[in-house]
Amino acid sequence: MSVRADKLLADNSTLSRKQAAAAIRAGRVTADGTVLRSGDQKLVSETVLTLDGEPLTTRAHLYVMMNKPKGVLSVSDAPGRQTAVDLLPADLRRRGMFPAGRLDLNSTGFLLLTDDGVFAHQLLAPKKHVPKTYRVMLDTPVTKQMQQGFAEGVTLADETLCRPAQLEYRAEEPCVAWVTLHEGRYHQIKRMFGIFGAGVNELHRVRIGDLMLDESLKPGECRLLTPQELELLRNKSVQ
Ligand code: URA
Repeated sequence: MSVRADKLLADNSTLSRKQAAAAIRAGRVTADGTVLRSGDQKLVSETVLTLDGEPLTTRAHLYVMMNKPKGVLSVSDAPGRQTAVDLLPADLRRRGMFPAGRLDLNSTGFLLLTDDGVFAHQLLAPKKHVPKTYRVMLDTPVTKQMQQGFAEGVTLADETLCRPAQLEYRAEEPCVAWVTLHEGRYHQIKRMFGIFGAGVNELHRVRIGDLMLDESLKPGECRLLTPQELELLRNKSVQ
């Protein structure tokens, strides 16, 4: 299918259609290695575009795994504050990218970013109960009482009853808990441990569905999901 060059550029960058046309006129854009001169030129959607020498990804949708650092908001836009979308490298920073799910400001780990609203909706739909696993550093050792309480379903201070969750730990590291939730409520893990008088020092998401965070990603780094990884999440989202 062929599309206008200015539309293809706008669809695959953060530029508006008008800005895309101006960038093309200014000679800042190449298509398959040739400098474009006119926004109304027709291109096939697989064309490799560069903007200011940087290649742009022209896939229909992008699915990105990020290791979210502390102090970064998991929203797409917050004027004056740093967001996960701001951390995307130029070739993945296209309009419409947003975090599919939330991590608190000081939580770290696996954040998925995409511009595919249907996919995100299916993955996040509360009735899917897609499990998410967190490594939690506590200010006190895990107790059997916590483990049993999590397994039965914790009632939060505001009377909300949480779904049963798995809490695992190793005797050698009693202040490190591995928690798997099947829902996502505001500050849920902190509030669940709070019921048992425990404070959360650090919270790091390691897994969404069957997909583990690639721990070779340093805080703030990200990469595209492989087709196999995307398939793992898709299988979860259609169940
Ligand atoms: N629970 C929390 O308390 N914070 C998170 O970021 C995720 C789960």
